[in-house]
Amino acid sequence: MTSVNTAIIPVAGLGTRFLPVTSSIPKVMLPIIELPAIHLIIQEIVDSDIQKLVLVIGNDADTIKQYFNPTESLKKILKSQNKEYLIDKIFELNQKIEIRYVTQKHPRGLGHAILQAKNLTQNEPVAVLLPDDIISTTDEPITKLMINEFHRIQQSVIAIRKVPDDLISSLGIIRHNSKDFHEKLFEITELIEKPSIKDAPSNLAVTGRYIIKPEIFDILENTQPGALQEIQLTDALSSLLQHQKIYGYKFPGEHFDIGTPLGLIKANIFYASQKSEFKKELMNWLKNQNSIY
Ligand code: G1P
Repeated sequence: MTSVNTAIIPVAGLGTRFLPVTSSIPKVMLPIIELPAIHLIIQEIVDSDIQKLVLVIGNDADTIKQYFNPTESLKKILKSQNKEYLIDKIFELNQKIEIRYVTQKHPRGLGHAILQAKNLTQNEPVAVLLPDDIISTTDEPITKLMINEFHRIQQSVIAIRKVPDDLISSLGIIRHNSKDFHEKLFEITELIEKPSIKDAPSNLAVTGRYIIKPEIFDILENTQPGALQEIQLTDALSSLLQHQKIYGYKFPGEHFDIGTPLGLIKANIFYASQKSEFKKELMNWLKNQNSIY
């Protein structure tokens, strides 16, 4: 059985919605409570038993690299205060995953970013995780659930969710064959990147987690710019669909689009409300706000 050994995370995005903070801090370093978003995503990969990660970075990713290699002076200070445990989570991740970096010199789209990782994937299926999409499931992480489905059906699997009409034109949208509906899996028959509402085949949107068979890389090499004049992963998947089946996985759990300020705020509230040290006070405070407005 082919297993999924490599994950790819594109982190080269400019984060314009978060300017000015993203003029000096990469968007994936914005925090959900005490952890940068990239930490949460990498934790998901580790918890999904993947050992190799390719981070597709822009020209400057020093802040991200520094995060995974805390400075000697910080280690020394924490040691002198007996507080090394405060950065243990970083070392725990480091021990469980091998991170390699490839550079996307020009921002030419998601498909182009994924293509940059081709030489590090050994012609095997890959997991692609978009760090704007944070997904909380109750037991196993979404990537693990999708790998389980991949092992069962041996076909590419893409996370999908129902979205309201106003989001359709900014996402990838699928058409599916309802006859082949099987539990949470939908056989995809068409994929369109950022369609207008009138051209949208459904309100089921591609949601930032993909398990994709290796044939995608040769297709990406020949994919022309599409929506937003960018090389789109969705267009390459659409070509892959001519040769192989692809399934949409309607995942259980909560989704946050942390590529927007409101989504990041919601994710922070959600994760804070799961922590016993914050829950009570946060909920009381929110309840009071509710009664004021
Ligand atoms: C990308 C994909 C899109 C998908 C979305 C999910 O869009 O191209 O198909 O629906 O991520 O977050 P982007 O957010 O890069 O515009």
